[in-house]
Amino acid sequence: MLTDAQKSAFLQDGYLVFERFFDEAECAALKSDIDELESARASGGNVPFICEYPHLGSLISHPRIMEITEDIMGPDFLFHHLHAVRQGEGAGPANWHQDYEQIPQTNRAHTMVHFFYYFNGLNGTIGDLMFIPGTQRTVVNNGALSFLKTETLPGTVVVNDLPPGSAVLVHSALWHARRAMPGGEGNPRYFADASYCQAGVLWPSYGISQWRELLMKMRELNLDRDGKFAHLFQEEGFYDARKAHELVRSIPGSQALHLKEWDE
Ligand SMILES: [Fe+2]
Repeated sequence: MLTDAQKSAFLQDGYLVFERFFDEAECAALKSDIDELESARASGGNVPFICEYPHLGSLISHPRIMEITEDIMGPDFLFHHLHAVRQGEGAGPANWHQDYEQIPQTNRAHTMVHFFYYFNGLNGTIGDLMFIPGTQRTVVNNGALSFLKTETLPGTVVVNDLPPGSAVLVHSALWHARRAMPGGEGNPRYFADASYCQAGVLWPSYGISQWRELLMKMRELNLDRDGKFAHLFQEEGFYDARKAHELVRSIPGSQALHLKEWDE
């Protein structure tokens, strides 16, 4: 799926852009799922898991997404999460941050990626995607950059002109932000993001108490496509993120002194 040039560009810069990745019919179906999801959210009642919406659910193991992810991180990887939202005019910004999952943040030995999907494109209204190529190699805490708000920083790339159905692949540790922009009345942004983790280390679970139930639900819904992508939803690939955050917060001083290998 990816050329060698794309693979090395991703390694170097931490992102790739795919214009018109989804066709019109796919976008229409995904947008209608997002409309239903937003209606459920607005109703104040029980909101189904996103994977229970048929088109959003099957997006998780979309064959071309699986091919790209495999090209980046090899055949064995886990699904971390899928978010979807419809953003209208006046949607707030997302300050500079990075989304790599690790507790605590110490290295980037294994790859984690996010796909950003823009089902009706980007046109300079509502919000611009911003990121800084290469920053995926600099280890910072997820929220450490928020004091920078959405200021333009040295090296910032702004993505604000994409046709409908485009996808942007980023290394999850790439520093990125969404800068709020005026306009967008009557033309909301249909956005989803999906995230995958390279096998080889355990990863923090999705940060909700029902993360195991959610993985089981995705297996039940056959989102692994008859076992073809069984590696996506394996509980054994994760540890409980909320418990780990508590543990790490409870250790005073240098955490290295608490490693099993420490024997002085
Ligand atoms: Fe993010």
